[in-house]
Amino acid sequence: MESKRGLAGNHKKEVDMKGKGLLRLMACAVTLGMTILGGVAAGAAPDKVAISKEGQACVDCHKAQSPAFVKEWEQSTHAKKSVDCYTCHKADKSDPDAMEHNGFTIAILVTPKDCSQCHPKEVEEMTTSHHAKAGDILNSLDNYLGEVIGGPEAVAVGCLQCHGGKVKVLANGKLDINSWPNTGIGRINPDGSKGSCTACHARHDFSKAQAREPEACGKCHLGPDHPQKEVYEESKHGILYVANKDRLNLNSDKWVVGKDYSAAPTCATCHMGATPDQPATHDVGMRISWTLRPPVSKKLDNWEKRREAMKDVCKNCHSSPFIGGFYNQFDNLVDLYDSKFAKPAGEIRKELIDKGLLTKADFDDKLDWIYWELWHHEGRRARHGAAMSGPDYAWWHGIYDVAKNFYGEFLPEVKRVAGPDLYKEIEKKYLESDVRHEWYIKGMSKEQLEKIQKFYEKRYGEKQE
Ligand code: HEC
Ligand code: HEC
Ligand code: HEC
Ligand code: HEC
Ligand code: HEC
Ligand code: HEC
Ligand code: HEC
Ligand code: HEC
Repeated sequence: MESKRGLAGNHKKEVDMKGKGLLRLMACAVTLGMTILGGVAAGAAPDKVAISKEGQACVDCHKAQSPAFVKEWEQSTHAKKSVDCYTCHKADKSDPDAMEHNGFTIAILVTPKDCSQCHPKEVEEMTTSHHAKAGDILNSLDNYLGEVIGGPEAVAVGCLQCHGGKVKVLANGKLDINSWPNTGIGRINPDGSKGSCTACHARHDFSKAQAREPEACGKCHLGPDHPQKEVYEESKHGILYVANKDRLNLNSDKWVVGKDYSAAPTCATCHMGATPDQPATHDVGMRISWTLRPPVSKKLDNWEKRREAMKDVCKNCHSSPFIGGFYNQFDNLVDLYDSKFAKPAGEIRKELIDKGLLTKADFDDKLDWIYWELWHHEGRRARHGAAMSGPDYAWWHGIYDVAKNFYGEFLPEVKRVAGPDLYKEIEKKYLESDVRHEWYIKGMSKEQLEKIQKFYEKRYGEKQE
């Protein structure tokens, strides 16, 4: 028998991607050798959809064993389209994670490769996106921090639950409990595929409406180093989402912004959703022009095209001068962070390393930690706040923290490490060359101090000490 998991590629062409569900299902059913329409299990109620004999056996036993799986599946689109437990969990004996289970050969994992039998477009897009690469972090600095400075036990329940880990299979087909459960976004599957669809479409409902909610992204996109969820919540967009959730038509089939809904965008609207001129995509990188993750921001390849794709979303709700203004302010903030803080900080630290005053190893000097938080936490927060209209993150959790760190911790520590002579040189080279640092070197001017004094007198009737 042909391995179920090898089907995807072979049958791509037979599958109608534009969505005629039944046609697609029949194509899949035939290739799977199932008897969907003729194979209604004896005793199934007439109003119930037809499912395979094997699927019925899973349902019958699991109804008692784990009723919630069955209930969730029963009300799903999959059940209505006769996609049953066996369709998804079926495995070939030669599959690395095949296991014998009550007379059936099944696999616990249902990977993107399995879903691709019927959803080739979504799988292709997901697989080429950064999401599918999120498990490839083993050589990163963050990973050193996790594995060595923290510990592998923390990585298993932390990093890998977001990024995805390598799921290992035992000889009997069962999954190694040190590596499972794991539904991280870039999970490395035993069949060689990457990613986990259930990261956004929770089982066994597998709903698109649920994935359109910002909460679907919020498991991972939050916290001190990438607070997209919090930024969104404080933005006008997030406020309007909460106020108008029932008007967002989340269950609609196509969910085209401006047509099917208009009150507010969610994460999925901007990064994935359809517009009148653009189809939905599972490649979340298609519409971003920067990557704001590294110490110094980088423009992506074809960034103009990507930016146009994002503007095409905004324009259903905003005018082009407004959108242009937004991007102007966003780019300006990114440039401020990069040129005023990130670049000099990186260069100064490198100079100290080159001069042998700091070790090459990371995280063993105080300055390593200070610098890490400057870019990885504070600098990202500022950039993400500006990218998604969250003013509190752009400023108070963002550039305010960056500046406080840069002037209050980073430079004093540089001074301590460098000693007075070298520090003078550093100051000259990296700070005096940029007028924006003048206030730090020379202090506030007399006029500025007076202006501030007057402001407080006028506002509160008192002098500021
Ligand atoms: C045997 C074919 C088949 C397999 C395998 C399959 N699906 Fe589906 N799926 C369908 C059909 C048919 C629909 C109905 C809508 C359509 O035609 O696209 C559907 C719909 C969906 C929807 C939209 C549901 C809604 O209405 O909100 C999601 C999400 C989905 N599938 C995810 C998955 C994921 C994830 C996997 C793998 C874990 C998977 N599917 C495996 C056939 C399949
Ligand atoms: C005769 C009863 C029975 C039948 C038939 C049955 N299962 Fe199960 N299944 C169970 C029980 C019991 C468990 C384990 C529960 C436990 O250990 O908590 C289980 C566990 C599972 C697991 C998780 C295994 C693990 O190690 O985590 C999957 C996946 C599964 N079943 C899928 C299926 C599918 C798909 C079918 C139909 C092809 C099926 N089952 C048929 C009773 C059954
Ligand atoms: C659309 C495909 C699909 C269908 C249909 C489906 N499953 Fe699953 N199932 C999955 C996915 C995906 C997972 C999560 C495994 C992973 O991350 O790869 C899963 C996980 C499981 C697990 C183990 C997870 C746990 O929490 O213990 C069990 C048991 C299971 N399914 C049983 C069933 C049963 C019973 C049915 C039918 C009522 C069913 N599945 C129908 C895709 C499917
Ligand atoms: C709460 C979920 C979560 C945890 C826990 C987590 N990360 Fe991440 N990580 C993310 C998200 C989301 C991004 C992408 C942020 C962005 O694009 O702004 C990311 C980005 C990264 C990047 C940058 C990737 C690139 O291509 O630039 C690395 C490297 C990384 N994480 C490694 C780790 C390591 C190692 C750990 C544990 C020590 C960890 N992460 C913990 C969610 C998480
Ligand atoms: C990052 C979150 C995320 C991941 C991961 C994800 N999806 Fe989706 N998916 C969504 C969103 C959001 C939608 C709704 C898009 C829209 O508005 O049309 C969706 C819609 C779908 C649909 C319905 C398409 C239609 O035209 O009706 C299918 C099928 C689907 N996803 C399958 C998959 C499969 C298969 C995978 C794994 C390869 C997957 N998804 C992984 C978020 C995700
Ligand atoms: C109004 C549209 C909009 C909404 C809503 C939105 N984003 Fe964004 N997002 C953007 C824009 C614009 C950018 C920056 C694009 C660029 O680089 O040109 C961005 C950037 C990002 C990035 C890249 C960050 C990096 O470090 O490179 C991630 C990740 C992200 N958003 C996730 C999310 C998540 C998660 C949500 C929901 C909680 C969300 N976005 C809501 C428009 C939006
Ligand atoms: C299970 C965790 C998880 C979920 C859920 C998740 N993401 Fe991500 N996302 C990540 C990680 C990790 C990265 C960084 C990947 C890397 O570069 O290695 C990332 C990266 C991104 C990027 C940057 C892509 C690029 O090309 O640089 C965007 C945009 C994004 N996610 C949007 C979303 C949206 C929108 C949702 C919800 C619909 C979502 N994500 C759901 C973990 C997740
Ligand atoms: C579904 C409609 C919709 C989409 C799509 C959308 N927005 Fe908005 N946006 C709104 C609404 C409504 C407001 C609130 C206006 C108000 O304050 O009265 C808003 C507010 C804003 C604000 C804050 C304005 C203020 O005065 O506080 C900015 C900035 C913004 N949007 C930028 C964007 C950008 C950039 C995009 C595309 C990446 C985008 N929006 C996509 C509906 C949308």
